[in-house]
Amino acid sequence: MMYQTQAEVIDKKVLTDQIILLTFRSKLLTEESKPGQFVNIRVSETCYPYLRRPFSYCDVVGDTFKILFTISGQGTKALANANIGSKFDIIGPLGKGFSFDENFDSAIFVGGGLGIAPFPFLSKYISGNKKIFTYIGAKNKDYVVTYGLENIKIATDDGSLGYKGNVVELLKNDFQKNLIKGSIKVFGCGPTPMLRALKLFCEEYNLNCEVSTEAAMACGFGICQGCPIETFNSNGYKLVCKDGPVFNIKDIIL
Ligand SMILES: Cc1cc2nc3c(=O)[nH]c(=O)nc-3n(C[C@H](O)[C@H](O)[C@H](O)COP(=O)(O)OP(=O)(O)OC[C@H]3O[C@@H](n4cnc5c(N)ncnc54)[C@H](O)[C@@H]3O)c2cc1C
Ligand code: FES
Repeated sequence: MMYQTQAEVIDKKVLTDQIILLTFRSKLLTEESKPGQFVNIRVSETCYPYLRRPFSYCDVVGDTFKILFTISGQGTKALANANIGSKFDIIGPLGKGFSFDENFDSAIFVGGGLGIAPFPFLSKYISGNKKIFTYIGAKNKDYVVTYGLENIKIATDDGSLGYKGNVVELLKNDFQKNLIKGSIKVFGCGPTPMLRALKLFCEEYNLNCEVSTEAAMACGFGICQGCPIETFNSNGYKLVCKDGPVFNIKDIIL
């Protein structure tokens, strides 16, 4: 079930100049939310920016939820300027999240930049004695966010923190050293080039992998047909907002 409601900002953490963690309170938007789902936020009371902006649930605690974002344009700038106590018109929970039906010993999270956003919430659903290995890639150390994550390895393009190179290379190196054993499921989120590399890696090692994808969105719930993603299914395309944003990496054409 999705809801449209007003949610109040109850906390704001400025993690770096460009990266903000906002906490909202809303029972409707939290109680049925699942990792990998998202909210679509009306960022302004005026007509500009006109379209809502989608953000993954980064974490959910009781009736509060967090979003983690980079300031990239007018929408995120408006959100970054929000004060505690301000209210936003938000639709959620939207989309299909990650699935947890398979049996695996270890979960590998692979996040490119702010692609780590859905993982703190996801980690709470990976229960029991399963291990989590987190791989974060970013262009430099200023874009590395580790909020809510554990057992972390970092790759930066310029080598300013951790391994110098891309995050999938780092993961592959660890596989070649046989550092992660047992049955594995990979969870990915990040820019398309990273997802492409991850897909090749998962094919090479025959790993099950789900990824959270992104597309420019308008409605956020399957009406406008504005967020297609190419798939191997017979119809060719699916909608990121309604059929995703999480897909099995085998099913999508990147
Ligand atoms: C399901 C989903 C979940 C998302 N979760 C997060 C999140 O947790 N944290 C986060 O920082 N961002 C997330 N995004 C991306 C976020 O919605 C965009 O960064 C945001 O809409 C930008 O709005 P803006 O007005 O600030 O920038 P705009 O002025 O709209 O755009 C600024 C730049 O970002 C690019 N851009 C805009 N929207 C997207 C998009 N959907 N995908 C890729 N590039 C885009 C534009 O092409 C432009 O170059 C998510 C997107 C989707 C579809
Ligand atoms: S955003 Fe409207 S159909 Fe996906």
